[in-house]
Amino acid sequence: MKDYIVHDGWKIIEDEFHPEQNKITESLMSLGNGRMGHRANFEEKYSGLTLQGSYVAGVYYPDKTRVGWWKNGYPESFAKVLNAANWIGIDIWIGTIVLDLHQCKILNFRRELDMMNGLLNRTFTAELADGKQVKVTAQRFVSIGQSEIGAIRYSLEALNFDEKITISPYVDFDVVNADANYDEKFWDEVNKSVAQGEGYITAEVRKTFFQVCSGMKFKILKNGEQIRFHADVEEREKFVSNLVTVLLKKGDKLTLEKFGVNLSSENCAKNQLAETATKFLHAAFKKGYDRLLQEHSTLWYKKWETSDILIKGDVAAQQGIRFNIFQLQQTYSGEDERLNIGPKGFTGEKYGGSTYWDTEAYCIPFYLATAPSKVARNLLTYRHKHLEKAIENASKLGFNNGAALYPMVTMNGEECHNEWEITFEEVHRNGAIAFAIYDYIRYTGDTGYLLPNGFEVLLAISRFWSQRVNWSVPKQKYVMLGVTGPNEYENNVNNNYHTNRIAQWTLQYTLEVIDLLKKENPETFAQLKAKWNFSEETETQRWKDIIAKMHFAYDQSRDIYLQQDGFLDKDLTPASDLPKNERPLNQHWSWDRILRSPYIKQADTLQSFFLFEKEYDLATIQRHFDFYEPLTVHESSLSPCIHTILASLIGYPEKAYELYLRTARLDLDDYNNDTEDGCHITSMGGTWMSFVLGFGGMRVKNGRLHFAPILPEKWEGYSFLINFREATIKIEVNKQEVILENHAAKEMVISIYDNELALPANGVYKEKLRSS
Ligand code: BGC
Repeated sequence: MKDYIVHDGWKIIEDEFHPEQNKITESLMSLGNGRMGHRANFEEKYSGLTLQGSYVAGVYYPDKTRVGWWKNGYPESFAKVLNAANWIGIDIWIGTIVLDLHQCKILNFRRELDMMNGLLNRTFTAELADGKQVKVTAQRFVSIGQSEIGAIRYSLEALNFDEKITISPYVDFDVVNADANYDEKFWDEVNKSVAQGEGYITAEVRKTFFQVCSGMKFKILKNGEQIRFHADVEEREKFVSNLVTVLLKKGDKLTLEKFGVNLSSENCAKNQLAETATKFLHAAFKKGYDRLLQEHSTLWYKKWETSDILIKGDVAAQQGIRFNIFQLQQTYSGEDERLNIGPKGFTGEKYGGSTYWDTEAYCIPFYLATAPSKVARNLLTYRHKHLEKAIENASKLGFNNGAALYPMVTMNGEECHNEWEITFEEVHRNGAIAFAIYDYIRYTGDTGYLLPNGFEVLLAISRFWSQRVNWSVPKQKYVMLGVTGPNEYENNVNNNYHTNRIAQWTLQYTLEVIDLLKKENPETFAQLKAKWNFSEETETQRWKDIIAKMHFAYDQSRDIYLQQDGFLDKDLTPASDLPKNERPLNQHWSWDRILRSPYIKQADTLQSFFLFEKEYDLATIQRHFDFYEPLTVHESSLSPCIHTILASLIGYPEKAYELYLRTARLDLDDYNNDTEDGCHITSMGGTWMSFVLGFGGMRVKNGRLHFAPILPEKWEGYSFLINFREATIKIEVNKQEVILENHAAKEMVISIYDNELALPANGVYKEKLRSS
């Protein structure tokens, strides 16, 4: 765990340079706008520890997998989120000495991410080998309003010298992916152009042939006045730059305003890429830095207006939740149903593919409650568009009759992860995709989504479950063999509780959907039956049998369901007894040792208790929490959030608070020692859930919002906003009471601690706060 980020409600601050943590800070202070993003790399040259990262949404490379021994059904490729052009770069020489923070003395360094305005700021004074001191002020953003555009304002002030300064803004497409399987480069140049004050490169991704045009255009100001300049233009393969030399006298300030563009062939015809990118860039340049920034921060303000969470009396917790919301907002804007939420968003390459079950299981609730419903609907549509590929994927593995197995990791609908324990076995993701359809409809009331998209996906997933189980003669039950549950520290287990449970639930829900459709849209339903050769009678008969006779391993003496068959054979030493220097286990223990151990990477059995809470009583949930949580090492970012929600529910406020901090500050404090690879974006949806569903006690039941807030002891209060069926509700909690405000122009029926009340349009209601 690290502790160098300064606590602040709206900012992420590094108030002196920590070169050894630079890759972590670069991840934390990444900027994005749903379409592109950049790690917080320095603009000027840096020869120290760094991971250069610039990303353009939807653009990937299917890297050939690296597996020791090829077997039938293995995916061909492991997709890579691509490191794209470095458009932020500005090389600088003071006289003949290059400005490089790894090579000089650094004074008054400060780097901060301003989350309110979506800005990255940095200031420092560099003292070079010859004693010259230059003060640098840098600011940049990637525009929310014009998602192809980014802008940088970079100033240099001569503190104690008169000297020629050479600045060289550039675009560099000659980049590598740190995680390339075979150290290959993935981009080939298509064309480039460079002129006075601007330059463009169009490059193409090998194999997938996506093209991206990246460009820059800049102006220079001296002491606030724009100056004319003559640049030496430079070009080489996949690289363009301008070199401009200006004489600075002591006290002079030179400012470079550099605008960048990234336009991909996903959003523009290839033969018009360069021309359109140039047009976009010229328009942004004309608008100017200040206006562009003004528009950008106004849009951020609007985002915060609907999604901010305020915590009083605990700045670490406040910073954590805002950081999570900020990252979610800048990763996915919801306008494009071809895009999804990568586990690292625009903060790093790791995890290759863009889409995991994380989206459905952890992120959709956030977007449902903080954005128009089309945003979550687009995420569901994304999966519907991949249905054919999911059916193909299942058929590669031997399933038939339109059964679908969605990939564990994907870019284009195909499985693109190369660990067999994950690709073939972690089938619970199919259940998460089905559950998200239910969740969306429960929240929005939009049953229209079922026809045809929702139903088609549910049918195909149910068909998969129906084939994936088999009848066990000795048990006289249906069993599911050889799976990996959400707890990836177990592979190839039989009857993982969560997987069996979510399979059973999917079959049940699909039956309910069929009943609804038959009643409300019999004709369309009949057409769909024909389209999918759905033998309703026979197929649903089997589903009903599976629902009734699914096996769940159970221990009578403890009265608990077991994570899988045989779980109790393990040595059940609690995780608290593990030596600290052996954690995280996955960085210290052999895989073999991990698999034999009882340690649970993330909520597994408890994932079901979270999803299907209403089917268990509190004592049962508590019993399972008491058994499983002490064995849980929370080494997946997705773990603490689910435990926070359950701990809040069963009256363990201290545990809830401890795990809340762990999820909210996971990256800020680098709990799992891996933030340098990028932030855990999808788990941030979980953080939001841990707050709103955990402390806020929010649930949706029978089309209505329910709240049962608790207040962690350390806090004076908190408030959050919920967007629900065209209404906004504000929930404020202080040490004495809960205040509900209906910001909508219609009455809302809401439950608070199970008391139903009709909150009139623009009405306010107060209720005494209950302790947990
Ligand atoms: C977790 C998975 C998750 C993946 C991407 C893994 O560490 O165990 O559940 O889907 O990370 O976030």
